[in-house]
Amino acid sequence: MGSNMSQFFQLSIILSFLLSLTLSSSYSSVPPQNLPPPENSIFAQEQLYIAPFKKSHDEALTCGQLIVSRGFKYERHFVTTEDGYILTLYRIINPNAQAARGSKLIPVLLVHGIFTSCSSWMINGFDGFIEPWVDGKPPNVRSNSLAFVLGNGEFDVWIANNRGTSYSRNHTRLDPDTDSEFWDFSFAEMGEYDTPAMVDYIIDKTDHDKIVWIGYSRGTQQMFVQLAENPAFAEKLYLNINISPIAFYGDAKGLGSVIPNERLATRALENYEGPLPPFLPEFDAGLTYFCSAEISQPICIEVYSYLFGPNRRMINKEIFQVITSQIDSTSNKDTTHDLQSMRYDQIRKFDYGKKMNQEKYGSDEPPKYQFERIPKYNLVLISGLNDYLADSKDVQKLRNILSKGNSTKFDGPCPNSNNRPYIDHVITDPYWSHTDIIFGNRAYEYAHSVILDIMRDYFSQTE
Ligand SMILES: *[C@@H]1O[C@H](CO)[C@@H](O)[C@H](O)[C@H]1NC(C)=O
Ligand SMILES: *[C@@H]1O[C@H](CO)[C@@H](O)[C@H](O)[C@H]1NC(C)=O
Repeated sequence: MGSNMSQFFQLSIILSFLLSLTLSSSYSSVPPQNLPPPENSIFAQEQLYIAPFKKSHDEALTCGQLIVSRGFKYERHFVTTEDGYILTLYRIINPNAQAARGSKLIPVLLVHGIFTSCSSWMINGFDGFIEPWVDGKPPNVRSNSLAFVLGNGEFDVWIANNRGTSYSRNHTRLDPDTDSEFWDFSFAEMGEYDTPAMVDYIIDKTDHDKIVWIGYSRGTQQMFVQLAENPAFAEKLYLNINISPIAFYGDAKGLGSVIPNERLATRALENYEGPLPPFLPEFDAGLTYFCSAEISQPICIEVYSYLFGPNRRMINKEIFQVITSQIDSTSNKDTTHDLQSMRYDQIRKFDYGKKMNQEKYGSDEPPKYQFERIPKYNLVLISGLNDYLADSKDVQKLRNILSKGNSTKFDGPCPNSNNRPYIDHVITDPYWSHTDIIFGNRAYEYAHSVILDIMRDYFSQTE
């Protein structure tokens, strides 16, 4: 870590604090809830920082606290990957659903995007509270937070945390604070190791031999990477649902277009093997302070729109600062791999430069992932038309490469005679952008209700 950088961060924190003290009186304080203490030390730290200017309930809460605040219980499970990373899975416990369905609840795993964590499925509005089942039927909960929609239903909801997030910073051998080797990973390893470790663990812990996968953005990349290398993995999934799917990246707008040459952009961090952002609690608290203040919030919303796709109707200004407070970390290498992917268009293995590529792959350029091998019989794509990161041109390239694969003969509920995904849903709102599934104020209407319908339809056919 360069000392310039750490000084910069420290300075911004001190400035934020001074500002927060002068302005804190203008905010109404959030009434204390009966929440358990934070189970994540990084967010515990952030909670102390933002206390003076906290505006809305969910800011900087941990996943355990978020689940409890909606009236559910939860379990934490620790999953060790083949290469030694220890990941935290959350499981929502809904006694009403258990009483009604017991072990028949269908296991679903929610897998977050980059720079977020488990919390991203639970913070889209302070709602989604647990409700009773009537006559053995689930309540109709129309929350914008998918975890609580599913958690109220006939589902056994598990929530992932990939390696490098604040929830999954542990390893059988490496210390994330002192061993830079811990941070030597990208989404390639999330695909190769984290994806199967989490899915296998849930299958092992439940009475089911398959689960439903719901990945978003980065969560789709890691599934596509796994399936390109190991198509048989699809057999462990009832449905393989991928929201804002990313296998091609060349037409990404916003962030992608401002960084024409990722080598230039990453030169500053070339030799840095560590988390991004570093100093997560300070980073989140500083940004949250900045984005809470009336005077600077429009800047945050502008930048946010530029990164993910402008869709102002969908931004909920009341809870905007919850987003910044919940940013999580990944490795510098992971971010670099994403930027490389934008340059190469089709996602390839990590590019180490000619010499090391030769050693690792036997070719100057990193090999492409063979996305044509992804099975389609249980594949569900959900995409939007105003998505700057999973651009509709890039989604079309994914459809094209999928159609080159073998047409899978499968006589289950998902016949696939024409070599296309089982379901390929384009969200009907023409302004639907990358993050609207997670933070859009009409996420239930346009996405969650669709996902529910797809799942209920599928399971009613297999019953
Ligand atoms: C990391 O994992 C080890 C081995 O499972 C465990 O003993 C330790 O408590 C964990 N550390 C943290 C901070 O969770
Ligand atoms: C298609 O099937 C053949 C025979 O099973 C196999 O050799 C080939 O690799 C498959 N191609 C793809 C793209 O999956």
